[in-house]
Amino acid sequence: NEKKTEDMPLTGKKILVTAGPTREELDPVRYFTNHSSGKMGYAIASVAKKLGADVTLVTGPTSLPEPQGITIEKIISTKDMYEATMSRYHEQDVVIKCAAVADYTPVTVHSNKFKKKNDLWTIEMKKTVDILQSLGEKKEHQVLVGFAAETENLENYAKDKMIRKNLDMVVGNDVSKEGSGFGSDTNEIIMIKKDGSKKVLPILTKENAAHEILIEVMELMKR
Ligand code: CTP
Ligand code: CA
Repeated sequence: NEKKTEDMPLTGKKILVTAGPTREELDPVRYFTNHSSGKMGYAIASVAKKLGADVTLVTGPTSLPEPQGITIEKIISTKDMYEATMSRYHEQDVVIKCAAVADYTPVTVHSNKFKKKNDLWTIEMKKTVDILQSLGEKKEHQVLVGFAAETENLENYAKDKMIRKNLDMVVGNDVSKEGSGFGSDTNEIIMIKKDGSKKVLPILTKENAAHEILIEVMELMKR
């Protein structure tokens, strides 16, 4: 059962999506991460596939089933995600950075389990590489979309990230809101494009939100 080409507007387009959290190891039994479930990124990858795209999903650890018919690259750390994404960047038409990347990583990774000692334990952390910022700096022909997870000043912070990271569009969501947070099956997003235009959407399933995002991406690809 062949699909009609008008149903497959992303045919021939290569899209890379990053999803889920990254994980920064401290010792053989402990790590730092965040609450990302990966659902939004997986929904974007699945919908892009349905629209005909050649999809690569670079994903941190999640408990979600693997979408069929796409290339999946499983990674753990921010550094792994950086390498997996950068090495595939040149050939992509679109990159959507949905992943919740760990911002800091321990300065020292212990090779043996760290034994408990004092009542207080201070762990020194250093900044991880900003993958999206690097993509923005090295942008060629690609449409580059980032996310902004905020708990306040959503629009201003999202716009600031779009400019600072040289994005074509930023998708913002307030992760402190009911129906828009980590692990939820729904999301309430705003989309801001580099021309300044803004779209505010109601709470949608992550699949419908993914569809809305890809409609704007297709618009950006025409320019
Ligand atoms: N991002 C990234 N690499 C990082 C941190 C973030 O690629 N080391 C990307 C995320 O995938 C997302 C965007 O940058 O697309 C914004 O992430 P967010 O956590 O909202 O913003 P930060 O720039 O990390 O700033 P802060 O966490 O302080 O708000
Ligand atoms: Ca961050």
